[in-house]
Amino acid sequence: MNILIIGSGGREHALAWKLKQSSRVTRVFVAPGNAGTAIGAENVPIRETDFPALIRFAKDNRVGLTVVGPEVPLVAGIVDAFEAEKLRIFGPNKAAAQLEGSKVFCKDILHKGNVPTAIHKVFYDADSAVAYLRGGHDMPVVVKADGLAAGKGVIVCDTRDEAVSAVNRIAREREFGAAGDRLMIEERLHGQEASVLAITDGETIVTLQPAQDHKAACDGDKGPNTGGMGAYSPAHIVDDRKLHWIEEHVFVPTVHALNRNDTPFKGVLYAGLMMTAQGPKVLEYNARFGDPECQPLLMRLKTDLLDVLELTVEGRLYHLDSLKWDARPAVCVVMASEGYPGVYEKGKVISGLDEAAKHENVKVFHAGTSTNDNGEIVTNGGRVLGVTALGDTISDAKNAAYAAIQEIQWDGAWYRSDISDKAVR
Ligand code: AMP
Ligand code: GLY
Repeated sequence: MNILIIGSGGREHALAWKLKQSSRVTRVFVAPGNAGTAIGAENVPIRETDFPALIRFAKDNRVGLTVVGPEVPLVAGIVDAFEAEKLRIFGPNKAAAQLEGSKVFCKDILHKGNVPTAIHKVFYDADSAVAYLRGGHDMPVVVKADGLAAGKGVIVCDTRDEAVSAVNRIAREREFGAAGDRLMIEERLHGQEASVLAITDGETIVTLQPAQDHKAACDGDKGPNTGGMGAYSPAHIVDDRKLHWIEEHVFVPTVHALNRNDTPFKGVLYAGLMMTAQGPKVLEYNARFGDPECQPLLMRLKTDLLDVLELTVEGRLYHLDSLKWDARPAVCVVMASEGYPGVYEKGKVISGLDEAAKHENVKVFHAGTSTNDNGEIVTNGGRVLGVTALGDTISDAKNAAYAAIQEIQWDGAWYRSDISDKAVR
């Protein structure tokens, strides 16, 4: 079977790498892909939101399954567009993808399902949000733009003044455009965060092993928020008992609430959880694999991913045997461009990739990379590589990832040096 993967990040390189290992897969195309997917698979120069061109490509190349990586095409309705043409595609349709596309929709579903989450209030204009803040106690809150804002529309505030300025950025200065048409003020939760992903066909739920991301740019979780500077799995803060609790109290009621809402969900339910003193609470749902969580998860998954994705699309996930995992932990460390998550330059030549590839139990997943006119691999984004390693212990995996990183260089490359330390502490 030929596969088409939509997207160009580390997640999509990991998906391509994993699907290539299936005995039933012939060709793997990635649109638009990166320099890593160009080597391991075949890149197709089509943008991820150009649905007519993607559909034409899928038909012309006898693609048996399309797998969508990022949220933007999902929320824009790529699944509906493919299904209208009788093409098989993995991911939620436009209505169900609102779970990630609208934080207000997500909260409605969580309430319908009685799923634990932070207390919140929705506002349609800046004046009423500011009046609400001025009328209450000066306490830490989180201000969120309703729509997609590339992970930037969430502002964690320590004081009322910070919250008022966050409201102004979203609703008056319109920093996030139409994503700020509605906004939410939410109780600030405390604890460690965990990413727990489940695959569902709308009936059966298959929970993946827990993972933990590192969203802050700098060591010790300091500095600005990023797309994620590293991840590891399993995450010990979610032990088997907690994982079971999350299945029962988070995923099952969410899937039921989505069905009752007439927006049945097929694809990846990614719960961003805060492990509070009162138990796990949902911070947000994403409607896709996490990036970089996908990299360590797929490095550990032994089950044929094609089986999982196909049975989901066919609504026959109850047929799937229990997932098989490598018992060894995996750690992914992101190498980023100088300036990220702010402005950064592109086109820096990356050296040492071949040497890094020789390291055992290590896989270097590409994210923001491309090939220049001289055939050299160069930087092409903020998060550039996800160096991922397996080890007998989490420390072994961490050391293996950082040893491979020592081989790789470009002008301005940087990374966090403490990925997975939370697991050891
Ligand atoms: P989100 O895009 O909703 O995951 O938010 C991005 C980040 O903001 C999360 O990973 C958390 O670190 C933080 N965050 C979101 N909501 C809350 C909350 N209610 N309390 C504390 N931190 C939060
Ligand atoms: N790792 C965070 C995300 O994928 O949104």
